[in-house]
Amino acid sequence: MRSLLSVLDIENEVEKILDIASDFKAGKIEEKPLEGQKLAMIFQKSSTRTRVSFEVGMYELGGTALFLSNKDIQLGRGEPISDTAKVLSRMVDGIMIRAIEHNDVVEFAKEADIPIINGLTNLEHPCQALADMLTVKEHKGNFDGKFVYFGDGNNVCNSLMLICACLGMDFTVACPDKYQPNEKIIKEALRIAKNNNSTITITSDVKEAAKDADVFYTDVWVSMGDEAEAAQRELDFKDYQVRQELIDLAKEDVIFMHCLPAIRGQEVTSEVIDGPHSVIFDEAENRLHAQKAVMYYFMKELLN
Ligand code: CP
Ligand code: NVA
Repeated sequence: MRSLLSVLDIENEVEKILDIASDFKAGKIEEKPLEGQKLAMIFQKSSTRTRVSFEVGMYELGGTALFLSNKDIQLGRGEPISDTAKVLSRMVDGIMIRAIEHNDVVEFAKEADIPIINGLTNLEHPCQALADMLTVKEHKGNFDGKFVYFGDGNNVCNSLMLICACLGMDFTVACPDKYQPNEKIIKEALRIAKNNNSTITITSDVKEAAKDADVFYTDVWVSMGDEAEAAQRELDFKDYQVRQELIDLAKEDVIFMHCLPAIRGQEVTSEVIDGPHSVIFDEAENRLHAQKAVMYYFMKELLN
């Protein structure tokens, strides 16, 4: 049974899934292809976009989604994840999980005999990355340019690095040394990028990174779970704020992206996030189209 836990699980299928997402957006796919199917959505952390895109997406595909918050289900009281997976596997057709620990999702997927979809862990956010590349495809028309991520080498950064490598898009991370992306993910991204003739660059030089960029991307400096380090992180990241001065170094038609939620005045200035280069709401809308594509692909197409 195939699951989507990491961008690595779809290393050679990213473009196919993006095409399905574009087709959904254009209304080209049969109505209600997942009629009668049930998706359980487990959330160990808060969510707006992920929850709504999967819930509305499942409704539009003809199925039903169940919102299961950690606070309400027995998982939150210590029921083993493996028991939860086995039980849910007998009642629903797929599970989306937003988990604190990536390894928990890996364990969960081993025990389940239905597709498991990663809706964010400490290591990756593959569904976000798919929506992001759909947005790049729409605004740029191709993946030939330079994608620059500023700030924390976190879950979102890890998945973006991998997906850019899969699509052959040059990817640069501008981050303090202490906050570089996950080492294993960097290795994998370098391997994939090499096959696709693209580059992965990790630097602490924001201005060099910004030069001639086609896409700017940033995420919060304090992710869910990092709250205890908030004060230190604000100091460590202050030079990595996306601001007009950096936009001026990029290509004239650079787009600004952010997975949201954003904190204006921290990782990005209001001038940039609310300015003419920003595509953040197209990006947020694309969560819906991309997540429909993910559910369709894993819960129907791969099973046929
Ligand atoms: N970008 C994202 O995953 O948003 P939520 O935390 O609101 O789901
Ligand atoms: N890096 C952020 C992304 C939120 C969508 C977090 O993990 O909190």
